[in-house]
Amino acid sequence: MQIQHNTSLLGLNTMAVDVRSAAFASFQSVHELKALLKPYYQPLFILGGGSNVLFTRDFPGLVLRNEMMGREVIQETDDYFLVQAGAGEPWHPFVLWSLEQNAYGLENLSLIPGSVGAAPIQNIGAYGVELKDVFHELQALHIASQEIRTFSKEECAFGYRDSVFKNALKGAYVILGVTFRLQKSQSPNTSYGMIQKTLAAWGINEPSPEDVSRAVIHIRSSKLPDPAELPNTGSFFKNPVIDEEEFKRLKCRTSEIVFYEMPNNQFKIPAGWLIEQTGWKGKRDGAVGTYEKQALVLVNHGGATGPEVWAFAQQVQQAVEERFGIRLEPEVNIVG
Ligand code: EPU
Repeated sequence: MQIQHNTSLLGLNTMAVDVRSAAFASFQSVHELKALLKPYYQPLFILGGGSNVLFTRDFPGLVLRNEMMGREVIQETDDYFLVQAGAGEPWHPFVLWSLEQNAYGLENLSLIPGSVGAAPIQNIGAYGVELKDVFHELQALHIASQEIRTFSKEECAFGYRDSVFKNALKGAYVILGVTFRLQKSQSPNTSYGMIQKTLAAWGINEPSPEDVSRAVIHIRSSKLPDPAELPNTGSFFKNPVIDEEEFKRLKCRTSEIVFYEMPNNQFKIPAGWLIEQTGWKGKRDGAVGTYEKQALVLVNHGGATGPEVWAFAQQVQQAVEERFGIRLEPEVNIVG
């Protein structure tokens, strides 16, 4: 937990931008964390797996990397397990471990980069399942008072890639550990078309959760770039949700719209589709580009700086706004 100064964060963010932090330390326990939370180190940034963050400049304060580990079944009933994991645990190995315990519900969230502690902040989701569907509670340290508090699902105020930790309580807490409620019965969610197609191609009619996990891994690997090979932060923008009036206006501008109907007369439009329509799919400017197979993912072809990635993202935002009148909001946490 020693504090290092003027540290490169290159290996600690999956976009692989080489920014420096004035001070850096990692912590493996609440005790270590408390010792590091000294008021003279400001600003403060808590880093998990670094897979959903873009540093746009050198960080003038203290970056703390959460390395709190541990995963265990803490309660078992006839129907479900309560499974707890330290916030620093890498997400995907935790998902695989849960399947080994015959605890089901995380399979659709296989292969998502990042850490357990970051998962509730943005309510990670993929292939028909969101973290909130399997969430039980979490423990977090209040930075100002150094008190530990338990947050229920309601208190987390989960939304689409959203929670209270991105809004009212942004920067106020450090997540220490998360508890999930995972089922004993096997009833995997195969609602997402690509999962059904993949399982059908494999000749699997009654898929187990492990089969769904394998299908998700297969789909993600074929569609999304591996950050270890081509640095990226997954979806860079959120899929915009628009109301009926705006949807009608959009319909006038373009003939075939890809959309998902949401409750309350709202419509979710895939940002990847909007970007592709503007001609930005697979486009590259210097070392930054959109991924050739999925326009929503910005990639670093090698040596891109934080400001370069952010400038490119803003060009994409502008192109979509000019063409469709829709402002894309970053899904990635922009720091700087
Ligand atoms: N599409 C295009 N062109 C593109 C990309 C997508 O036309 O370049 C179209 C697809 O054909 C499809 C639709 O857009 O009709 C949706 O695409 P996809 O199923 O790939 O999902 P997405 O909406 O782009 C979201 C999540 C992903 C998650 C997938 C699968 C967000 C911001 N992203 O992407 O999450 O894996 O659904 O559930 O909601 C992430 O958050 O980092 C992430 C990768």
